[in-house]
Amino acid sequence: MKVAIFASGNGSNFEAIAKSIELRQAGLEIELLVCDQKDAHVIQRAEKYHIPIFINQLSDYENRGAYEQAIIEKLKPLKIEYILLAGYMRVVTPVLLGAYPNRIINIHPSLLPKFSGLEAIERAFEAGDPVTGVTIHFIDEGVDTGPIIKQEKVVRLANDTEASLEARIHQTEHQMYRQVILDLLNKTNGVDKK
Ligand code: GRF
Repeated sequence: MKVAIFASGNGSNFEAIAKSIELRQAGLEIELLVCDQKDAHVIQRAEKYHIPIFINQLSDYENRGAYEQAIIEKLKPLKIEYILLAGYMRVVTPVLLGAYPNRIINIHPSLLPKFSGLEAIERAFEAGDPVTGVTIHFIDEGVDTGPIIKQEKVVRLANDTEASLEARIHQTEHQMYRQVILDLLNKTNGVDKK
């Protein structure tokens, strides 16, 4: 299964997927990293795993449609089947959604629909919620909306700081994203088909 991963920043989710031997053995092929920030740390991570990189900056285009069209032109010859968003800090428009309907997956560090949008971990921490979590979902035209694939809770411990809670949320993200991709691979490989 050929995928492109989209990321804008640190890229710990990207790396959790890229380094997984289990996923590679199950047939995952990461054909491309699409990154909209030329200095993002995720670029170094992609280099480490010899994954091709497409740096594509919105400021080089007249509008978001043209920016996404350039991505589509890049993905088409690679026969990308799924797009995995991993800390991609842009709302996807109907241009890209139309080219990959039900094929774009996102990860978000809260139990959606709670704390959609930016700084979800910080806001959940400040709200004092005893339980927060992670959501993986197909995207639609909204911000952090669309059909949910998997959700997992992360319990806030009595002595948690925002940093320690955040670290556990990221750990959960990495495991969950790998599991969701593995499930998808098994489906595509026909393991789940009766
Ligand atoms: C993650 O918390 C993800 O859920 C959110 O952005 C963050 C990206 O982290 N969409 P990283 O770049 O993968 O380390």
